[in-house]
Amino acid sequence: MTNWSTRSWREKPIQQQPQYSSQEQLEQVERQLKSFPPLVFAEEIRALKTQLGRVSHGNGFLLQGGDCAETFADFTAPKIRDTFKVILQMAVVLTFAGSCPVTKVARMAGQFAKPRSSDTETIDGVTLPSYRGDIINGAEFTAAAREPNPQRMIHAYHHSAATLNLLRAFAQGGLADLHKVHKWNMSFVQANPLKEKYLQVAEQIQSALKFMEVLGINGESNAKISETQLFTSHEALLLPYEEALTRTDTLTGLPYNCSAHMVWIGERTRQLDHAHVEFMRGIHNPLGVKVGPNTTPDEVIQLLDVLNPHNEPGRITLITRMGANVLAEKLPTVVRRVKAEGRHVVWSSDPMHGNTVKAENGLKTRYFDDIHAELRQFFAVHQAEGTYPGGVHLEMTGEDVTECTGGAYKISEHDLTQRYLTQCDPRLNADQVLELAFLVADSLKEARQGRG
Ligand code: PEP
Ligand code: CO
Repeated sequence: MTNWSTRSWREKPIQQQPQYSSQEQLEQVERQLKSFPPLVFAEEIRALKTQLGRVSHGNGFLLQGGDCAETFADFTAPKIRDTFKVILQMAVVLTFAGSCPVTKVARMAGQFAKPRSSDTETIDGVTLPSYRGDIINGAEFTAAAREPNPQRMIHAYHHSAATLNLLRAFAQGGLADLHKVHKWNMSFVQANPLKEKYLQVAEQIQSALKFMEVLGINGESNAKISETQLFTSHEALLLPYEEALTRTDTLTGLPYNCSAHMVWIGERTRQLDHAHVEFMRGIHNPLGVKVGPNTTPDEVIQLLDVLNPHNEPGRITLITRMGANVLAEKLPTVVRRVKAEGRHVVWSSDPMHGNTVKAENGLKTRYFDDIHAELRQFFAVHQAEGTYPGGVHLEMTGEDVTECTGGAYKISEHDLTQRYLTQCDPRLNADQVLELAFLVADSLKEARQGRG
């Protein structure tokens, strides 16, 4: 690879970075981070890449989800547990519907940096730097909080480590047992206004579990029933942090970004000749690339040339986020070109970021029906083009928030203020996520018919 190093991004133009007032403090933090242990291991990263390679060939499904932005304040065991639970609940429904393994990737344990549409925010005539995520500055609207502080990277590292530790304990310590997860789903179904609609699927899962039990396949006899594997991911936005956690794997001699298993490039930082693409092309993790409504087929091919020159399956997940009104118009040309050129990618749908609107009271929200509509169209486009819809990417939480409107409980714009807790974008709550899982189950089943 020509002239790549963990630092070569520094020679390129860069977007969405904070201006630190002390270079010396920044460098000190970078040195400290470089001395810390990696958060994940290269072997795990390779395992994820292998799984995603299978997904790109139509054998599996990627479920990626979690907070828009994690925060230091919201760092509690129940919160981490509840988001973990809802990812697992959704995964069970999708595994059953698709009759295929579901690769679970959390937007957790490192999702702390946010791209912003404006560098500054003005309230009542006062202008301050925008909040860029807890790894950079504080959300509070004061000059002190909004000042970027490199020390926050150290806090983000420790928060990520503790979150990851708990996620690993949950995944292997009994919380992920399939019977438990299904019991949670049954209580969701029983309480849901659309109960009848979901009961059928839920009861089929129940029978499948009973059947396995009769055969003696249970948590004690088979670890696959009682344990799960959950990978982590975040937007690799703050490059000094990502660089500091990039390590050479002793087994292969290759550089891996050990801050998470998978990292993605956001819609605002994927310029071909800029710093983020430069950094990402050299690390060996699976990469996500956000694909917005104005992305041209040429741009996508050029990005694939740079980021995946050997066309390795599992390396790239194209995360389309076009909006319910434009996806059907814009996605087909991109899909056709990628298919025509024989590129291996996982096609995933982020039905959140193209569907953000402002409610009458000024709060950012998303309509459940728009989210569902974008997902339906995503499946329909891939069906029509003969390509495989391989994943979903959701902003969601296990908490009972009121941030997205609609769903079976008919959250109205009026209800938004009840529990609007997000620091950034509106997330689906646990009920809405599960509802969506049951709704996309049919599309997934259809997409997988005739596959192995
Ligand atoms: C996000 O995933 O939080 C995000 C900012 O997405 P995008 O880059 O697609 O706007
Ligand atoms: Co977001």
